Amino acid sequence: MEAPIRAFAIATVFWGVAGFLVGVLIASQLAWPLLNLDLEWTTFGRLRPVHTSAVIFAFGGNALLCTSLYVVQRTCRARLFGGEPMGWFLFWGYQFFIVTAALGYVMGVTQGKEYAEPEWYVDLFLTVLWVHYLVAFGGTLLRREEPHIYVANWFYLAFIVTVAMLHIGNNLALPVDWSGKSYGAASGVQDAMIQWWYGHNAVGFFLTAGFLGMMYYFIPKQAERPVYSYRLSIVHFWSLIFLYIWAGPHHLHYTALPDWAQTLGMVFSIMLWMPSWGGMINGLMTLSGAWDKLRTNPGLRFSVTAVGFYAMATFEGPVMSIKAVNALSHYTDWTIGHVHSGALGWNGFVTFGALYWLFPKLWGKKALYSERLCSWHFWVATLGIVLYITAMWVSGILQGLMWRAYDELGFLQYSFIETVAAMHPYYVIRTLGGLLYLSGALIMVYNLWMTVTRGENEEVAAQPAPAPIGAPVPAPAE
Ligand code: HEM
Ligand code: HEM
Repeated sequence: MEAPIRAFAIATVFWGVAGFLVGVLIASQLAWPLLNLDLEWTTFGRLRPVHTSAVIFAFGGNALLCTSLYVVQRTCRARLFGGEPMGWFLFWGYQFFIVTAALGYVMGVTQGKEYAEPEWYVDLFLTVLWVHYLVAFGGTLLRREEPHIYVANWFYLAFIVTVAMLHIGNNLALPVDWSGKSYGAASGVQDAMIQWWYGHNAVGFFLTAGFLGMMYYFIPKQAERPVYSYRLSIVHFWSLIFLYIWAGPHHLHYTALPDWAQTLGMVFSIMLWMPSWGGMINGLMTLSGAWDKLRTNPGLRFSVTAVGFYAMATFEGPVMSIKAVNALSHYTDWTIGHVHSGALGWNGFVTFGALYWLFPKLWGKKALYSERLCSWHFWVATLGIVLYITAMWVSGILQGLMWRAYDELGFLQYSFIETVAAMHPYYVIRTLGGLLYLSGALIMVYNLWMTVTRGENEEVAAQPAPAPIGAPVPAPAE
């Protein structure tokens, strides 16, 4: 059952590089608008969803499928329900979903809902595929030989079930012609509310719960320690999934959404800080007594730094959800800085940590080709993130303050174009940060490629030759 998982691991790397590349391209377009090339297919507006879907659904999604199918079989000591054919169906079906969605964006076929851009025909296909995923994952859990369901599987299961619910809820639509156009079932503020219930929980269950599943499996493996507190992980799980689902309205502060709903979203977002940090502490404390491994295991360094970025993003998020803060941050690059401290630092680094651990294991190699290159990747990418997010924080706060500045006569002090011009240096720095992050990923591609092709094979324990029929049965070893 390793072959489809190997394919998912390769797809994660491939789509990661593709998504980062488009990220660098759109970052360059914001710095130098000429790069839009004056062609409808290559404008920022069409390439931006290509980037967001490539990194979230293609890179993140393949990483989640890869690791969830790997982890569930090991922690349950059971083979995947549906076996290899199911694994291959999930693999090819998921890649087909990615390609059809991306083609739609470039051709201008879109529902115009952020992170839910694909039109109905892609949505229907994904629904069928996701049901298979749930059956495969749930079926494997049911045939487990272990009495307990390891906590990583709880997080993966919450991710699979909730994403199904969000996907169906937010994509109810009526197709109107064969070009792919459809009209959503809800309209006006209800539509906005459903969209951000979806959007926020895509963050909560796709980019958080699923990746926490990765954290709970790979950090203990890399550190060779059990999870710090199993009890805390259970409290973490239930409080996180209960609170996340209510926080969506913080995306719609000061809109037509009723005020009480906005306040509800804000209060639940602030409460979310607790389970988020509880989980972070559980991840970090797993290293108690094994901190020295950070010096010798650069893969572990990625996973642990990821937890640090998770802490940062989940501290910043509740602060930004406070209405008075959001009045400044909303629509500005501050949001983009928040997104990428989570995306590059948390999602990206957890995935890199898992890939460095998985590649040698999946291809039966003794070790990574080069720990030194892994270390280079770590530092180059970390520098890239620091440049990216600090540039966005400065530009975001500057942008917000310029928009709300009045002169002594009560007129706006800056025209919009002046605020755009003020952003230019920060957009250049962000592009540089993105380039560094991409370069780090290319170093990883080389390292993983060399691990697979040149790495020393793990010795497979010699199987005793079957005894000839009728031979005396040997006594069991002491
Ligand atoms: C080389 C790395 C990357 C670069 C250079 C990059 C660049 C960008 C740029 C320029 C935007 C548009 C910002 C705007 O509209 O003002 C963007 C948006 C976005 N990116 Fe990235 N990105 C990178 C990696 C990632 C990764 C790894 C993820 C997720 C796992 C991610 C998730 C997103 C999301 C969710 C948005 C939309 C944010 C929003 O609407 O608030 N990016 N990115
Ligand atoms: C306790 C946890 C978190 C809370 C309360 C939170 C809160 C927020 C808030 C208030 C916004 C700005 C909404 C706006 O003004 O439009 C936001 C945007 C965003 N956050 Fe978080 N955040 C959290 C964690 C994370 C994490 C870990 C990620 C992972 C990558 C993430 C990804 C995003 C994305 C992608 C957006 C942009 C959505 C959009 O406008 O397109 N958040 N978050």
